[in-house]
This record gives sequence, structure tokens and C-alpha cells, in this order.
Amino acid sequence: MLRVENVTHRYQVGEVVVEALRDVNLEVRKSEFFTIIGPSGCGKSTLLNIIAGLIRPTAGRVFVNGTEVTRPLPGMMAYVFQQPLLLPWRTVLDNVAFGLEMMGVEKRERIKRAKEMLQLVGLQGFEKMYPSELSGGMQQRVSIARALAVNPSILLMDEPFGALDEQTRLQLGIELTKIWMLTKKTIVFVTHSLSEAALLSDRIAVMCARPGRVIDVLEVDADRPRDPESPEVQRVRSRLWDLLRNAAKVTA
Ligand SMILES: Nc1ncnc2c1ncn2[C@@H]1O[C@H](COP(=O)(O)OP(=O)(O)O)[C@@H](O)[C@H]1O
Ligand SMILES: [Mg+2]
Repeated sequence: MLRVENVTHRYQVGEVVVEALRDVNLEVRKSEFFTIIGPSGCGKSTLLNIIAGLIRPTAGRVFVNGTEVTRPLPGMMAYVFQQPLLLPWRTVLDNVAFGLEMMGVEKRERIKRAKEMLQLVGLQGFEKMYPSELSGGMQQRVSIARALAVNPSILLMDEPFGALDEQTRLQLGIELTKIWMLTKKTIVFVTHSLSEAALLSDRIAVMCARPGRVIDVLEVDADRPRDPESPEVQRVRSRLWDLLRNAAKVTA
């Protein structure tokens, strides 16, 4: 489905070269909830931007369904960022329909689709409101609905709940599991939260910094929906902590 092959990326800022990623290899399966976890600055966003075709890697290649990604492919991949990035002058419904509008989908169809997506994220009844009238958690639900509306093959999420309070974050995590179970989307999810990774993922790629690389990929074999306090989730959490702590020792 998605393959990242020997991806290395360096940024050059003036005279200084930062090696953001070194030799990253990943394979994400169809309908998989795949998480990338690692400390701040280890290259998670860079990797997601490379997968999205927004940055060309210094070396290596990315393939989606066998096709090399060399530029953004709207419709194929949709992105959800930490900030919801909604258009303030558009209603909730028109924000969700935005991607479809860009793709030239006719009005009746895009409104129908946008309404379905709002229902999926639990925002039916909020269609006519404006983003500023919603809480941060609700705005992020709108941005998830907007991403899903174009029916992408892959949903890319870069710390989507990172700006929310812990309770909202947990609640949205549980919602995202439900959405994933209903839509069976392939999701590549970036976080630095151990709990979030353990709660949501089928597999978790653990990254470390300087240079950013994947040090392990964990498989989480627990039924869904998961209880954050269950022994399986706790076990994955502590395994992640061990890996990240030891990696930090090496580079600290
Ligand atoms: N546009 C850029 N120009 C130069 N350096 C960058 C740029 N974007 C990121 N970096 C550097 O690359 C490294 C990885 O950054 P990033 O991918 O944002 O990490 P993360 O998302 O894991 O926090 C960091 O050292 C960061 O400072
Ligand atoms: Mg980042």
C-alpha cells in the first residue's frame, strides 16, 4: 500500500546541514492504523511531508500502490495537521466540502458527502456554524471530516490532537478508533504521546533523533475499542518508554 524506501533527508540552512532522516524504511498495509512516534525534532513531520509529496527527499523513494510519489496527490492522500486550518469565513459544512469543491464535485453531491462526514465525526447539527463558534476539539473534528470527505486512500495525521487538553485528546482518540473501524482507512499517525500510540495503533514505528531514524516497529495485538487502562495498552506503553528512553541515552 505505502512503501518508504531508504529515505534520507537533509536540510541545509546557510552553512549548516541538518540530517533530519537517515535511511528510513517502512511498509504500511492497507487499512492499517500505523503510528510514528519519537521525540520532538526526530523528523516525524519531515517524513510525513515526504510521504505526502510536499518535500522531495535527499535520497530514497516513496510508493503508494506501486506508484512513486513525486508531488502531492490530492484525493490519494489527505492531511490533518495539529492546527485545524479551517477557513474562518466558511461554515462548518462548506469547510468540509472544500476539498470536494476543489476536485470539481457538483454541489448537491458534495453537500451530501459533507453531511455524511459530519455525522461520522459526531457533528451533525453544527453544519451552519462557523469555526470560531466551535471548541478546539470540535474544530479538529471538522478538519478530520474535511480530510475524509475526499475519500483518500491514506489519511496522514501529524500530531492532530497535540494542541488539545488531555481529556479532549483522549476522547478524540476514542472517536478516531471508531472512525477507523467504520471506514477502514489506512492511517499514518504521528504523535509523541506513548498513551495515544498504544491506544490507537496496529503497529508503531519508534524513531530517535540526530539523525532521525526508525529504531523499532512494534505490533500491538489488542482488540478494539481499547481501554486506556487495560494491561495490554499499559504493556505497549512501557515497552515504548523503554525504547525511547534507551535511544535518548545514546544521543543525549
Ligand atoms: N524547513 C526546515 N529547514 C531546516 N531544518 C528543518 C526544517 N524543518 C525541520 N528541520 C529540522 O529537521 C529536524 C526534524 O524536524 P521535524 O521533521 O519537524 O521533526 P518532528 O516533527 O519530529 O518534531 C529538526 O532538527 C528540525 O529543526
Ligand atoms: Mg512535527
